[in-house]
Amino acid sequence: MKYNLSIAKTTEKFYRMCAEEIVDVIRQKPNAVIGLSTGRTTGGIHKAMVDIYHEKPYDVSQVTIFGLDEVTGVSTDYFGSCYYMLLHECVLPLNIPMENYLMLPTHSDNWEEDCKKFCDELSRRGGIDLQVLGIGENGHIGFNQPGTPFTQRCFKGSMHDYLEQRIRKETNTPDDVELAGVTLGIADVMEAKRILLCANTKSKSEIMKKALFEEITEDVPASCLQRHPNLRVIVDEEAYTDIAEFVK
Ligand code: GLP
Repeated sequence: MKYNLSIAKTTEKFYRMCAEEIVDVIRQKPNAVIGLSTGRTTGGIHKAMVDIYHEKPYDVSQVTIFGLDEVTGVSTDYFGSCYYMLLHECVLPLNIPMENYLMLPTHSDNWEEDCKKFCDELSRRGGIDLQVLGIGENGHIGFNQPGTPFTQRCFKGSMHDYLEQRIRKETNTPDDVELAGVTLGIADVMEAKRILLCANTKSKSEIMKKALFEEITEDVPASCLQRHPNLRVIVDEEAYTDIAEFVK
């Protein structure tokens, strides 16, 4: 088999398997630096991390949790900001010290400087031990949309139209105020010591095939992961459908 790939039989098992991977890293290295992602896929994973903690507590006093990306132009109090989601899904329920919760800002006068500061802080803490990734239906990771160079470092990029429209509506942001996304770049993600790529539902099946078993191209940002030396992939049975033929 080309990848270290596991298939979960149910949604509940999918969340649980992904969460176990993250918790294992924390158990092995209590001061690990762990990058999480937000979205429909990862919300359930974070909940499972909290469930595991209640069943068999693990030390979270030294772990660093950071977000892969953030919506810009909104308040961190907005329930759709990545800050808010990770805070409520994971940081508060696990009681992670706030000084160990790192997020890119939602507003900045100097994105270049703030992105550099964020990455410098990750390096100061020893670099990324594990980066957890979801995948967009178009192959995006974080806010690295198709066409983003593989050499890209942390930057303010663009978001998908549908996501922008939803956030605009939910936050009453007028059309003349810019909404965008700030994200670790592909080059930053590829420097993580381990990557966990999580995908569930049928909607992710075809892009998982493109990303992992077809041409490595900047048109499919997640295809860069084929070159990562320590990639772990967890899918549910639906997301597995289109890749099954490659996994024999
Ligand atoms: C969003 C986020 C990504 C996330 C991806 C998948 O745009 N910026 O970090 O991994 O899209 O989201 P979902 O799991 O909701 O499909």
